[in-house]
Amino acid sequence: MDAAEFRALWDGLSPIGRSKRGYERYSWTDADQQCRNWFRTQADKRGMEVETGRSGNIFAWWGSLSDGDAVLTGSHFDSVPHGGAFDGPLGIVSAFLAIDVLRRTGAKPRRPIGIVAFTEEEGGRFGVPCVGSRLMTGALDPDVARNLTDRDGITLAEAMEASAADPSILGVDRDRLANLGAFVELHIEQGRALDAEDAPVGVASAIWPHGRWRFTFTGEANHAGTTVMADRHDPMLTAAFMVLAARKEARIVGGIATVGRLDAEPGAANVIPGTVRAWLDARAPDEAVLGQIVDGIESKVVDRAERDRTRVAIEAESETPLVEFDAGLRDRIAELLGGVPILPTGAGHDAAVLAQHVPTAMLFVRNRTGVSHAPGEKADYEDCAAGADALAAVLRELAC
Ligand code: GLV
Ligand code: MN
Ligand code: MN
Repeated sequence: MDAAEFRALWDGLSPIGRSKRGYERYSWTDADQQCRNWFRTQADKRGMEVETGRSGNIFAWWGSLSDGDAVLTGSHFDSVPHGGAFDGPLGIVSAFLAIDVLRRTGAKPRRPIGIVAFTEEEGGRFGVPCVGSRLMTGALDPDVARNLTDRDGITLAEAMEASAADPSILGVDRDRLANLGAFVELHIEQGRALDAEDAPVGVASAIWPHGRWRFTFTGEANHAGTTVMADRHDPMLTAAFMVLAARKEARIVGGIATVGRLDAEPGAANVIPGTVRAWLDARAPDEAVLGQIVDGIESKVVDRAERDRTRVAIEAESETPLVEFDAGLRDRIAELLGGVPILPTGAGHDAAVLAQHVPTAMLFVRNRTGVSHAPGEKADYEDCAAGADALAAVLRELAC
């Protein structure tokens, strides 16, 4: 396929949720509905049957899922706040284009082929990543999911209702899972390894274990001008210490830690905050190292809170273990594509959730800037076309 064919489909989707600051495509919003409508239109054009699972995800089928041993591909539409264009949507657009390639070469699937758009992969609205795939596989309790809240206090259940979706149906989708034989997610690479190897496409080997922890620091709200330093119980001090401790603990053991969100209450320049919440995102090459990072931060922060006369509560919002993709599938795909690079990633994906249940693989498309989760994310359209061709080859190999 050439770049023009890729663009013809891509350009129809890419204006949705785009602003000067990047993408704001959150689940169960107007932008999400527009993406779902786009998905339905593309499926209709290809005569694919559309259905929504019990988990808020949307599927399109070539063949019937109930025949079993289905090959599923796809990704997610939702973005982080001010996200890039490719993280997620590239996998869905490429999936429809791969179907087009198979059709025009006369392929006849012997296994059903499905395309999925998973909901709330980033956790950009409700805080927990991979909500749709975790619900589908039973890794997230539906009651917990329904009660997740966004920054305005709207629950996931209320957001679904506002989008004319029924939250009472949420739950594990065992039949669907039982009918899947493989899952393949195509994704923009979130680093520069493929660029360094001069390769437009690669295959994933593993996803680092990772998670999100919410730290709630509490102290005493008081006047910024009249409260002498000795009388303060300022949780911002403990939070600031935590940010520095996170970097230090991760650096010592060779992992990664980020504090990308900090909320202070009441959030006024002339008030010592009463509460500060900070979110730690930590990742590491193995689970022992990840544990060392989080335990190290916790013990130092608890000690610091005592000195600041504040309190700290730590809650894990999500934890994902090390995922090693199916080695047979990975090697078969890498060889099929002519010996493309095989790389690990620190980024989370629905593929990591599915991999606990179904043989799963990921294809990566070169990212020219190496930037992701920000507007600078960039894949050349030629590489996107090469990615769609690679996905078509994989689907042909597995399903036709
Ligand atoms: C998802 O993209 C993540 O890695 O957080
Ligand atoms: Mn992402
Ligand atoms: Mn993604």
